[in-house]
Amino acid sequence: MINHISQKVRLYNGVEMPWLGLGVHKSKEGAEVENAVLSAIETGYRSIDTATLYANESGVGKAVKASGIARGELFITTKIWNTDQGYESTFRAVETSLNKLQTDYLDLYLIHWSIGQRSVETWKAMEELYAQGKLRAIGVSNFLISHLQSLMAQVTVKPMVNQYEFHPNLTQPALYEFCRKHGIQSEAWRPIMKGLVNEIPLLNEMAAKYGKTPVQLVLRWDLQKGVVTIPKSVHPERIRSNADIFDFEIEEEDMKRIDSLDKNYRLGDDPNDLENLFLKYGKP
Ligand SMILES: NC(=O)c1ccc[n+]([C@@H]2O[C@H](COP(=O)([O-])OP(=O)(O)OC[C@H]3O[C@@H](n4cnc5c(N)ncnc54)[C@H](OP(=O)(O)O)[C@@H]3O)[C@@H](O)[C@H]2O)c1
Repeated sequence: MINHISQKVRLYNGVEMPWLGLGVHKSKEGAEVENAVLSAIETGYRSIDTATLYANESGVGKAVKASGIARGELFITTKIWNTDQGYESTFRAVETSLNKLQTDYLDLYLIHWSIGQRSVETWKAMEELYAQGKLRAIGVSNFLISHLQSLMAQVTVKPMVNQYEFHPNLTQPALYEFCRKHGIQSEAWRPIMKGLVNEIPLLNEMAAKYGKTPVQLVLRWDLQKGVVTIPKSVHPERIRSNADIFDFEIEEEDMKRIDSLDKNYRLGDDPNDLENLFLKYGKP
C-alpha cells in the first residue's frame, strides 16, 4: 500500500522514482516556478518534472539548490525537445539542461515526442549517457505502442518510463497494458485534466464518499493503478492538497467506476499527428 509521500516505485533498472511529483509545464521561469518547486519540496515532494520546452529549467535548478535538500534525495526529470533530437545534438541538449538545472546528472531523461527515425538516433546518444551515469534512467514520452515497438527493435536499452496523457477520460488501456507487460513504468501527464476532474459528477459523488476532492480521488486512482503522477500547480495550497492522497484507499469497485469514464478523449496533442505538432511548435 502506498501510504506516504516518500514512497517510490522501483524502475526495472533498480532506480527508485517517487510515485508523486510536481509538474511545471507553464510555470513561468523566475519567481513563479521557483516558489512552486520550493513549496512542493517543503510539502514533501521529491520529484520535479520539467522539460526544455517549458523554458524553466534554470528556475527549477535555482529552487532545488535553495531548498537545501541533498541532490541525492531528489528526482529530477527533463525532456529533450524535438528540435534538439538527433545523435550529436542530444549530447549538447543534455549538457545545456544539466547546466541550467545546476546538476551533474539527471534522474530521468525523456524523449518528449517520437519524431520517427531521428528519435532512434537520439536514443542511441541517451544510451551512451546512461552508461556514463549522466542519466540514471532513460525513457520516452507520448510514445504509442507502435513507437515503442519500433524503438525497442532497434536499440539495446528498453525505456524505463513512458510518460503519456492519462486521466479518467483517457486511460489508453492497450498502451497501459503494453507498458506493464514490458516493465516500462507508466507516468501520467495532465492527470487532473487541468482541474476539469472537479466538474465530473461521478467523481464528485465518489470523492464525497471518501471525504476527498475529485482531484485527490483521481491522483489516488493513478497510484492504485500503478501509474506515477505529476500534477502541476503554482499555488502552495493546491500543491499541498494535491499531495494529500496517502491516507485513503479507493475500493476495487470504485476503481472500476473511474476506469469506466474513459472516452478516449485527448486534451493535449495527438502523438499520431506529427503534422499538427510541427505546425504548432515548428518542424525540427
Ligand atoms: N510529456 C508531455 O508531453 C507533457 C504534456 C503535458 C504535461 N506534462 C507534464 O505533466 C504535468 C501535469 O500536466 P498539466 O500541467 O498539463 O495538467 P494538470 O496537472 O492535469 O493540471 C494543471 C492545471 O490544474 C490546475 N490545478 C492544480 N491543482 C488543482 C486543484 N487542486 N484544483 C483545481 N485546479 C488545480 C493548475 O492551476 P494552478 O497552477 O494555477 O494551480 C493547472 O492549471 C505538467 O506540468 C508537465 O510536467 C507533460
